[in-house]
Amino acid sequence: MLDLIVRNTLLPGQKNPVDLGVLSGKIVEMAPRLDQECNEEFDAGGYLVTPPFVDPHFHMDATLSLGLPRFNESGTLLEGIQIWGELKPDLTAEAIKNRALDLLHWSIARGTLAIRTHVDVTDPSLLAVDVLLEVKKEMQQWVDLQLVAFPQDGLLRSRNGKELLLAALDKGVDVVGGIPHFEKTMEQGREATTWLCELAAKRGLQVDMHCDESDDPLSRHIEHLAYEASRTGLGAKVTGSHLTSMHSMDNYYVTKLLPLIAESGVQAICNPLINIHLQGRQDSYPKRRGLTRVPELLRAGINVAFGHDCVMDPWYPMGSHDMLEVAHMGAHCLQMLGAGQLGDIFSMVTTRAAEVMQLEDYGIEVGKEANFVVLQARSVLDAIRLKPARLAVFRKGVCIAKTPELKAEVRIGVGKRSIDFLHG
Ligand code: FE2
Repeated sequence: MLDLIVRNTLLPGQKNPVDLGVLSGKIVEMAPRLDQECNEEFDAGGYLVTPPFVDPHFHMDATLSLGLPRFNESGTLLEGIQIWGELKPDLTAEAIKNRALDLLHWSIARGTLAIRTHVDVTDPSLLAVDVLLEVKKEMQQWVDLQLVAFPQDGLLRSRNGKELLLAALDKGVDVVGGIPHFEKTMEQGREATTWLCELAAKRGLQVDMHCDESDDPLSRHIEHLAYEASRTGLGAKVTGSHLTSMHSMDNYYVTKLLPLIAESGVQAICNPLINIHLQGRQDSYPKRRGLTRVPELLRAGINVAFGHDCVMDPWYPMGSHDMLEVAHMGAHCLQMLGAGQLGDIFSMVTTRAAEVMQLEDYGIEVGKEANFVVLQARSVLDAIRLKPARLAVFRKGVCIAKTPELKAEVRIGVGKRSIDFLHG
């Protein structure tokens, strides 16, 4: 006797729907038609059913703080960091927790069930670290959270940066973070990168650094990060986030850099919503888009994922934690709307992002956890194009969120037509 059968699920890239059989929170059978008895049935109606969305780069300590204590008028990264610095002394555990929980309810409704969040460890109280560790534990049944010890004000530049980062890891933060381009000098950026990679290797942890989030073509910390990933043996346990300076780098140098990153195994994260908004701010015209070179990274064999980065905080006033919004923006800004490229775009908010987070048990396969999302779409193209309703979100075989179908009724003259925006 199965616990649940989800009927008529159209998996990405497939033509014919299948039924999914679930027992004890796992997918135990997949076939065109399951005849077993079951306690519960859900009809997916031939709609697209995908693994949950994964956000491998987020800032949950700052989320939903928009306007506190003021709005970012210049739209720059640096004004955002300044506003965050003004807000930090007034943060309370209750406010951080309430905002994080509100955000996670949005995430679940959007089908995002795994999130890697950076948490600022340059606040001497480590308040946000304690709160987010608590949130991680409280929400673990519904969402997989990974925390990154992120020295927002610089590991060497901030007071007691190293000690605070170590203390955060001792409390149970999962991943080693960094921000080499924000240290005082290029040399200190290098020094911080080496120290952080050695620390991660010693403790057996992953590394995920904010790296070269600038329009400066000479910001080349990714080169040193790749070198350290190889030297310490960390390899694919290292991720470079943002990497926006690569957009502005000399093309010849990039032909040397890409194979170095590929050889090292370092993975990359691009944050399209935030960096199309923050980059190129000192340019007149033409204005650089400032996103890292995603098609070229992929062609070089480097794993790339998309992150949401921010929702309604000092850096970005928009968003509802919808990874399909990220995919939609990325596809446009990176000029990746080719038929063959949309599969890559979709994988960057699903499977490729899961690879960055090294999630076990990810994907719709027999033996894996029964985590999946039913979308009001018939194809990956429609999913990216429409960012449609997540009709049902399943976690370990339990439906934990529902959104009604979107239909519009158009009345023209004497005619009346119901439409759902799906193609074909
Ligand atoms: Fe970030």
